[in-house]
Amino acid sequence: MKKIRVNLKENSYDIVVGHNILSGLGAQIRALDIGDDAIVITNSVIRKLHGKALSKSLAKKRISVKFLEVPDSERSKSATVAFRLIQQIAKMDVKKKMFIIAFGGGVIGDLAGFIAAVYKRGIPFVQVPTTFLAQIDSAIGGKVAIDLALGKNLVGAFYQPKIVFSDVALLKTLSNRQVRNGLAEAIKYGVIKDKKLFSYIEKNSDKLLSVDLKTTTSVVLECSRIKAKVVSADEKERKGIRTILNFGHTAGHAIESACAYNRYQHGEAIGIGMRIAGAIACQRKMLCSKELQKLEDLLDKVGLPAKAKGIKLSPVMRAVSHDKKIIAKKNRLVLPQGIGRVRVVEGVPTSVIKQMVTRYMA
Ligand SMILES: NC(=O)c1ccc[n+]([C@@H]2O[C@H](COP(=O)([O-])OP(=O)(O)OC[C@H]3O[C@@H](n4cnc5c(N)ncnc54)[C@H](O)[C@@H]3O)[C@@H](O)[C@H]2O)c1
Ligand SMILES: [Zn+2]
Repeated sequence: MKKIRVNLKENSYDIVVGHNILSGLGAQIRALDIGDDAIVITNSVIRKLHGKALSKSLAKKRISVKFLEVPDSERSKSATVAFRLIQQIAKMDVKKKMFIIAFGGGVIGDLAGFIAAVYKRGIPFVQVPTTFLAQIDSAIGGKVAIDLALGKNLVGAFYQPKIVFSDVALLKTLSNRQVRNGLAEAIKYGVIKDKKLFSYIEKNSDKLLSVDLKTTTSVVLECSRIKAKVVSADEKERKGIRTILNFGHTAGHAIESACAYNRYQHGEAIGIGMRIAGAIACQRKMLCSKELQKLEDLLDKVGLPAKAKGIKLSPVMRAVSHDKKIIAKKNRLVLPQGIGRVRVVEGVPTSVIKQMVTRYMA
């Protein structure tokens, strides 16, 4: 079991990473002294697979456990579901010292964190991420949110967990598609900050695709370190440092929204987004064509789609122009300057973006 510290003054916390460590969760929570009664927000799939092990670990330390299940869907990140759960929690909240455990992927983490942030103006919460993407990305950094019909993550807060507890063995039950989805974010970390990590993923892609525990644990650790460092330097995304985590996300989000979030999963869409950002960087001579090829080869190798299929250019371009990074009408793109370094570039001509987006559409 290894620990990484997220340094945020009074909001600091540890990320615990290891494999087959779930039995130690109760002790970690006890040491934090955050309460005796756990409300575990999850869905039926995750509960069936891993719920018993979680309960056992908490019971060992005399922490009471109450599971609250939500449907297995992005649609659970809604005001309706959130307020249904809040009502249930309020009814149970008699002579209790409650805290929340988010036990699931990014959907559960964002929803449970949102509830923890607003119920009684904030109660403690713990992230026990169960997807690759959640362990290396969404569970770290305190961005919690629900969606509106108008857009994703529009209602939320920065609300940090008390601990992130990542048991990599939980990832063994993920589908191959979910593993690839997480690998896209891992590759992103390699490109933005860590050439060695990129090469490690290149060399070990087969092991990572089959969730070999030792290899996957080192990648989860490395990515968590990078995210912890970036978040520690810019908790609330005010200094522009957190922006680099958005590499591949401008076009990626645009692709996701253009297909109404049902054709491509997040990692798949940002995989295409990274190719587009790489091609724009190449056109601007920030990245050489060999390096772009290296990035594309790795994305191909782990089985991420090379092109966005069945999507029209206009909704993608519309979504690009609504990107939240835009300041004073100038678009801002995170572009690679080689593998391991990125730069935020302002005002890339729309014609260039259009040309590169078109190149990656089938
Ligand atoms: N807060 C942030 O900083 C942040 C960052 C990135 C993404 N997100 C959010 O994360 C969400 C996507 O998260 P995700 O990719 O984890 O998807 P997800 O939460 O929908 O989980 C993917 C699927 O895997 C299943 N699953 C989860 N754990 C499993 C396990 N151990 N074994 C088998 N199946 C399991 C889930 O039931 C689900 O069907 C989006 O809502 C996105 O907005 C948030
Ligand atoms: Zn992402």
